[in-house]
Amino acid sequence: METAQMNVDKIKLDEIISRYRGAPGSLLGILEDAQKLNPHKYLAQGVLEYIAEKTNIPVSKIYNVITFYAFFNLKPQGDHSIIVCRGTACHTRRSKNLLDYLINWFGFKEEDLADAEKSSLTTKDNKFTVKTVACFGQCALAPVVEVDGNIYSHMTEDKLRKIVKGVLNKKSKR
Ligand code: FES
Repeated sequence: METAQMNVDKIKLDEIISRYRGAPGSLLGILEDAQKLNPHKYLAQGVLEYIAEKTNIPVSKIYNVITFYAFFNLKPQGDHSIIVCRGTACHTRRSKNLLDYLINWFGFKEEDLADAEKSSLTTKDNKFTVKTVACFGQCALAPVVEVDGNIYSHMTEDKLRKIVKGVLNKKSKR
């Protein structure tokens, strides 16, 4: 399946790579646009290898960039994203409890928690992806959670449940 997808994407990837040729910070732009090509908002291994080959940038350097920026994904993402801040200020204000709450609610296993901390965790129905971030830069508002790009402050489990249900209801009313 990955091979078939790569055959389709090569033309688009070539377009993206030539668009950024010689531009400062071109790798970031290439990766951002390449990620947008995928309906599940992630950069597949084959895509990274292809970019490395065409740009002469080592795959290891590409990985360094991807893992530095939270908006790049190495795994398929769900329709909605929930990002729980795990920085010191948010941790002190019990952000781990928020993460545990989501893990239980979505039926993940306890051992999956490490995936949410390291990369991302997506529900089986592909509706939600849960991730963590080192700091949103909004420490005074701790604990902070981002849902579908919107930042929510002073989060509680109750508030989080209402926001996530609201996201689902909005979608089903469309
Ligand atoms: S530690 Fe959470 S926003 Fe800074």
